[in-house]
Amino acid sequence: MNSYAHKNPEEQLGVTSSPEEDHIAPAPRVSVQAFCETAETAAAVQSAAEDRRLAKAHLRVEMGGMAAAVEAYHTAPTPNVIILETEGRGDILGGLDHLATVCDSGTRVVVIGNVNDVTLYRELVRRGVSDYVIGPVDALDVVRSICGLFSALEAKAIGRIVAIVGAKGGVGASTVAHNVAWAIARDVGLDSVVADLDLAFGTAGLDYNQDPSQGIANAVFSPDRVDTAFVDRLLSKCTDHLSLLAAPATLERVYDFGDEAFDTIFDALRMTTPCIVLDIPHQWSGWTKRALIGADDILIVAEPDLANLRNTKNMLSMLIASRPNDRTPLYCLNQVGLPKRPEIRVSEFAKAVESQPIAAIPFDSQLFGSAANNGQMIAEIAARHRTTEIFLQIAQRLTGRGVTKTRRDSFLSPLMKKLRTK
Ligand SMILES: Nc1ncnc2c1ncn2[C@@H]1O[C@H](COP(=O)(O)OP(=O)(O)OP(=O)(O)O)[C@@H](O)[C@H]1O
Ligand SMILES: [Mg+2]
Repeated sequence: MNSYAHKNPEEQLGVTSSPEEDHIAPAPRVSVQAFCETAETAAAVQSAAEDRRLAKAHLRVEMGGMAAAVEAYHTAPTPNVIILETEGRGDILGGLDHLATVCDSGTRVVVIGNVNDVTLYRELVRRGVSDYVIGPVDALDVVRSICGLFSALEAKAIGRIVAIVGAKGGVGASTVAHNVAWAIARDVGLDSVVADLDLAFGTAGLDYNQDPSQGIANAVFSPDRVDTAFVDRLLSKCTDHLSLLAAPATLERVYDFGDEAFDTIFDALRMTTPCIVLDIPHQWSGWTKRALIGADDILIVAEPDLANLRNTKNMLSMLIASRPNDRTPLYCLNQVGLPKRPEIRVSEFAKAVESQPIAAIPFDSQLFGSAANNGQMIAEIAARHRTTEIFLQIAQRLTGRGVTKTRRDSFLSPLMKKLRTK
């Protein structure tokens, strides 16, 4: 008899081998203990423990493989997940049978081995092993395996978080966030939510011409009530595919939050919304840092001057160091070509920060000024403008997707609609 959680064989074998599955949803608060045999695997597991997606999990690494695990659990209670490294074929199966007698039910077992053999797979699956990962493993393999256990067995978190932040105040980060989210929803066709995290001064409500009462403040000030249904009720609908979790933009309260204040809100949004765009104010605090590090993708918005250059460089190097298993954060330049202003050239900026911007958005006070004052998106007032095209390209780059539907109705579409309804 075994006491591990079960998974069907197809699902089990697919967990670690799907190359296009690059999105890994964070693991919940679970305890994980790894028993390694080699220093390389121990190092990989140790660095997985530092990964943002395992920020909530508690991971402990020990040496000694199967024998050490059996020994340990004779006396101690078992964690949520046990990772076992087994070198060679050895007596994995015998060891697992033995382990099963000391394991609590509900504990999931991941085996890291180096034997690629279907009969062994079958035997492991039969014993209830949740995942078998063929070594040598790197940190991301371990992260993927642990997170996969939970996203496959419980409600699957579907949402990707894109965090957008300015390298300096007032560079246009919010404007970019709102226009890009609009393009993600309308042109890329992904249901999206914009979360305005600038509680005191956020402009998402103005930009989308919405007048919601409290939005995100209701959630962040009542953490115990936050779940998907609660957050859903706080959203205001901007378009078919776009909703807003608005900032109150009132000053009665102050907004000094703890590092983890937004965690449950983001978790709730991830459960229901494919794309969550965080409009992060330009400030450096525990929670803004955490929101950036925890995001799936990051876009820094910068103006082409020296202070922006320094800040972009610092932000990039801090974020790259904190997210060793992730894509490098992206940045774009905004307000490029402001008349009479001396600017750092795009190529020089790119050289100094050692990466290319994904876009350089021209300064255009007429266009951006009318959009802001009318509560409209750039695409609404200038559908064919080059800047509209740039926002669409940024949307595609951030989501890794192309345009899924025609953007403007053709002159035939009323007729087509009629035909379809018949
Ligand atoms: N490319 C542009 N050309 C002209 N004006 C722009 C451009 N991009 C943004 N703006 C204007 O710059 C102003 C500041 O924009 P926004 O509020 O988006 O900045 P931010 O970086 O979010 O500021 P904060 O630091 O307060 O969060 C707005 O009035 C906006 O309309
Ligand atoms: Mg802003």
